Amino acid sequence: MKILAIESSCDETAAAVVADGRQVLSDIVASQVDEHMLYGGVVPEIASRRHIESISGVVSQALSAASLGWGDIDAVAVTYAPGLIGALLVGVSYAKGLAMASGLPLVPVHHIAGHIAANYISHPDLEPPFLCLVVSGGHSLIVEVPEYTRFRVIGRTRDDAAGECFDKAARVLGYPYPGGKYIDAAAKKGSKTAFKFTHPKLSGCEYDFSFSGLKTAVINLVHNAEQRGETLPVEDVAASFQKTVADILAEKTALAAKALGYKKIAVAGGVSANFGVRARMKKLADSLGAELYLPEPKYCGDNAAMIGAQGYYDFLAGKRADESLNAVATLSLEDI
Ligand code: KG4
Ligand code: ZN
Repeated sequence: MKILAIESSCDETAAAVVADGRQVLSDIVASQVDEHMLYGGVVPEIASRRHIESISGVVSQALSAASLGWGDIDAVAVTYAPGLIGALLVGVSYAKGLAMASGLPLVPVHHIAGHIAANYISHPDLEPPFLCLVVSGGHSLIVEVPEYTRFRVIGRTRDDAAGECFDKAARVLGYPYPGGKYIDAAAKKGSKTAFKFTHPKLSGCEYDFSFSGLKTAVINLVHNAEQRGETLPVEDVAASFQKTVADILAEKTALAAKALGYKKIAVAGGVSANFGVRARMKKLADSLGAELYLPEPKYCGDNAAMIGAQGYYDFLAGKRADESLNAVATLSLEDI
């Protein structure tokens, strides 16, 4: 079964064709990042406008790169939540138009479920149940995945998401937006023991995260150095910061995996591209005798192939939308 998938929840206009949820026949991503970089973050109004300009070309490219025509496609899948409302609306409206014009079924897909499903593309053997650490620009979650279309969120961030923390630390260290990948590159050249950042102490849910304290610690370190006229070893700060984030993510995931008895652990979302996080999670999985599943780097960030992968399992579960489908800015994985 071939699904044409569309993703436009933030600043990438993406379309892909995916066969049977696992085989990517084409994967087109038009990124707007260079434009948003000028403003130090995603400007929602600009994002919506660029999606409108790009979407029809991106969808045509996805079909032609797969050497397919509309007659070869069995369903259209689209990200409808969560994300920037205006950005989501472009993909949702376009997908509705395509489905109505072609008579194909329309499958609504949750963006975070899509990130998790990126692992099905990279690991043909991966099947639920498994535990997944989701770390993106807007979310930090520990999720139980008992079935392809069922999710139980057992840990979440109380403030900033991991990706947000990377981007804010990167900004104060002088890197462009989005800064996660620049910290990653700098960290490879620095000492991860040069600076000591404390881990947050949280009462209540033991699987929850908090990253605002760490963000503030980096900001204070930089501002104090500036006031004293000192030059900070930026690569050492990046390496020490990245180690702290990776340790926090791994420790919480380890707690959950041990308590709930998971031997299959996946990681998903933009931050799963991070070298330090990948290495730390591998160490954790080895220590637990668990199997670790990481998306290939190109499927860590936003893309439509992951939406086609999840869309396949959503289709099999009978999920369908009609012309009344609307975009939703905020929606928990548990409410889909
Ligand atoms: O999943 P994603 O592409 O978009 C959302 O759904 O939010 O995640 C984007 C986030 C950004 O914060 C970006 O800086 C971060 O993922 N990111 C990274 C790396 N690559 C992307 N963070 C750390 N290291 C990386 N290599
Ligand atoms: Zn995303």
